[in-house]
Amino acid sequence: MKLLLSPFVTLFCLATILISLHYCNAVNLPNNETVPALIVFGDSIVDSGNNNYIKTGFKCNFLPYGQDFGGGNQPTGRFSNGLVLSDIIASKFGVKKLLPAYLDPNLQLQDLLTGVSFASGGTGYDPLTSKLGSVISLSDQLNMFKEYKNKIKEEVGEERMKMIISKSVYIICIGSNDIANTYAQTPYRRFNYDIPSYTDLLASYSSNFLQELYGLGARRIGVIGMPYIGCVPSQRTLGGGRERACSDFENQAANLFNSKLVFLMDSFENKFSDTKLVYLDSYHPLMYLVQNPAKYGFDVADRGCCGTGDLEVSIFCNQYSSSICSNSSRYIFWDSYHPTQEAYNLLCSMVIDDKIKDFF
Ligand SMILES: *[C@@H]1O[C@H](CO)[C@@H](O)[C@H](O)[C@H]1NC(C)=O
Ligand SMILES: *[C@@H]1O[C@H](CO)[C@@H](O)[C@H](O)[C@H]1NC(C)=O
Repeated sequence: MKLLLSPFVTLFCLATILISLHYCNAVNLPNNETVPALIVFGDSIVDSGNNNYIKTGFKCNFLPYGQDFGGGNQPTGRFSNGLVLSDIIASKFGVKKLLPAYLDPNLQLQDLLTGVSFASGGTGYDPLTSKLGSVISLSDQLNMFKEYKNKIKEEVGEERMKMIISKSVYIICIGSNDIANTYAQTPYRRFNYDIPSYTDLLASYSSNFLQELYGLGARRIGVIGMPYIGCVPSQRTLGGGRERACSDFENQAANLFNSKLVFLMDSFENKFSDTKLVYLDSYHPLMYLVQNPAKYGFDVADRGCCGTGDLEVSIFCNQYSSSICSNSSRYIFWDSYHPTQEAYNLLCSMVIDDKIKDFF
């Protein structure tokens, strides 16, 4: 399987580079800075295919996922019709056009040296979230990062490895599964936590993660806050009543978590003055899109393009049982949970363009 794929993999990567050149162009970095690598941790918003290589039901390495990737019809394990946020952020920083999954067995040294994604769809800050989905926990993502550091040290020596680690940009994008899945859809956490105490718990995991990442040498870290999660199509269906309104409590939980995240990041930055720590707001950008789709060129904001668009995600969005909308560019959401590439391009600009300078 792997052997069969690899020449095609190379071909469609090239095709993608050509096709995606007009998207989300790299911005000029301040003071002629260059970023050697982009390193990403998180969930499906930034997973470029790690779940393909683990035993979980939460996968999407089949059509219609990837129907617009590269030359078309290339499912890669990205939870979208095309690129995901990690790819687009890598372009922004001028690093590369596609950010590969760390678990991809075809990675070359050059791929490692310019960065990878450790993210795993379905995971969360809360270790229970990754356990429920049989996906890669945040602490295991950090363990993979340690292994990654050793790999590049063996290849390029300790000095160059340290330079790469300290000059690279780190992005963390995680947390929505904790609220939307673990807290809202299962009884386990609700039994012991209300929203204020659960968001405290998530914030403490976030804080520990940042401490550890700092300890491993990261000095340019962007943390994407929780999005406007209550208005994604599946959360409307599950928590919005007959009208499929937005799930207010999820939006309030996301907002509350974000305020705690900002607070802990501020105190962290005071403690470690040699570190650039950048809060990246995704709550308001997604809110603007969902509340006023037409203004941003979208027709459909409350359903995904795949199937009914109300609930399907992962294996429930597939080419056998799901009809696909005729033009996904008109949709904010690709499936009932994940944005289309079109929306990701726009969101990426809204989330990060004004913040790039803060990383240097
Ligand atoms: C950036 O590089 C250009 C070309 O090498 C040089 O002329 C310019 O002075 C540099 N700017 C800074 C801020 O270092
Ligand atoms: C899809 O929709 C976009 C945005 O409305 C439009 O620019 C494009 O031409 C459409 N593509 C097709 C094949 O209809």
